[in-house]
Amino acid sequence: NATTVSPAHSASTASTLITNIAALVTNDPSLGDGSPLGLIQDAAVVIEGDRVAWTGDQSKAPATDNRVDAGGRAVLPGFVDSHSHLVFAGDRTQEFNARMSGRPYSAGGIRTTVAATRAATDEELERNLTRYLTEALHQGTTTFETKSGYGLTVQDEARALRIAAAHTDEVTYLGAHIVSPDHADDPAAYVALVTGEMLDACAPYARWIDVFCEKGAFDGDQARAILTAGKARGLHPRVHANQLSYGPGVQLAVELDAASADHCTHLTDADVDALANSRTVATLLPGAEFSTRAQWPDARRLLDAGVTVALSTDCNPGSSFTSSVPFCIALAVRDMRMTPDEAVWSATAGGAAALRREDIGRLSAGARADLLLLDAPSHVHLAYRPGVPLVSGVWRRGLRVL
Ligand code: NIG
Ligand code: FE
Repeated sequence: NATTVSPAHSASTASTLITNIAALVTNDPSLGDGSPLGLIQDAAVVIEGDRVAWTGDQSKAPATDNRVDAGGRAVLPGFVDSHSHLVFAGDRTQEFNARMSGRPYSAGGIRTTVAATRAATDEELERNLTRYLTEALHQGTTTFETKSGYGLTVQDEARALRIAAAHTDEVTYLGAHIVSPDHADDPAAYVALVTGEMLDACAPYARWIDVFCEKGAFDGDQARAILTAGKARGLHPRVHANQLSYGPGVQLAVELDAASADHCTHLTDADVDALANSRTVATLLPGAEFSTRAQWPDARRLLDAGVTVALSTDCNPGSSFTSSVPFCIALAVRDMRMTPDEAVWSATAGGAAALRREDIGRLSAGARADLLLLDAPSHVHLAYRPGVPLVSGVWRRGLRVL
């Protein structure tokens, strides 16, 4: 079991030197080449306990208890997947097949997964979640956010969040994924439930609140009411915004100081300006455009306007059934015209920014020791060698787990 830590690596107070790193991505521009990636060649990292104690030129590395030879390969921060939907049952193979023969994606498919998720036992949901987390870990994800949204009853939403909270601190209440099929004739009653009894049951498990602000899901006024109610309960907003069409989601995210506006596929100039003048990160999810055969988000327009961009998987059985951040990096570089450096930054430091975290997404002194060893001489190979399993070592909180 790859997630089990071997005793040899569990001495949490020992220090470990990882040396002979051909290219080290620190995401600290005060280090190395001074670029946003803070790239250091011929580098070393010292881990003490669960933290990075030192990064720099390997010739200046301090002495440590243990030593790992990186073999002239690349090391970078673990991926921060700031957007996924991993508490669900079943899959949507038929819907995918139909899409690949020309049928468009719509929010309506979510109902299929809601029915399967409600019918599943806690053990089945737990087993599925663990399976996708293990996949993600093998591809370098060391922090992930995940959401409810396939229960849509008080009990089923709270259950999803309770299961998620056993695996991550980054838990998001998405009771407002679509109007529950039980309230199809009375969306206002569903919004009242989401902001009332369901919020009460879910808030104890969650850090974030999210709304799918889209035609066929929730309009701007409904989304504002839901996010505002969540804020009043201490949850911080993030928004599924402007995925399938132009709409109010991005501006609402900025208005409410959401940590992130996610998807951002259909943006006006005013949307881009609003993001550029805010703390709200634009989280791009190219797995969704891949799997729905939709137009790519305009990453260059956002980056050139100075918007902070994160890259995440959106892993879910409907619109993006991939747990692979490296796959998303490759898509972002090839199809969204991000440079490899930008894509790697967005999948690490960008994800951390989208979760308002300063302790992850970087490898400089004080950061959490979450890091990846690639079987490649540089991080660029993540895009240059698409589909190749390059992640050959993973440390989480200072412990080698892969
Ligand atoms: O982020 N857009 C809304 N929610 C998911 C898709 C959910 C589904 O199709 O099951 C997304 O793409
Ligand atoms: Fe999503």
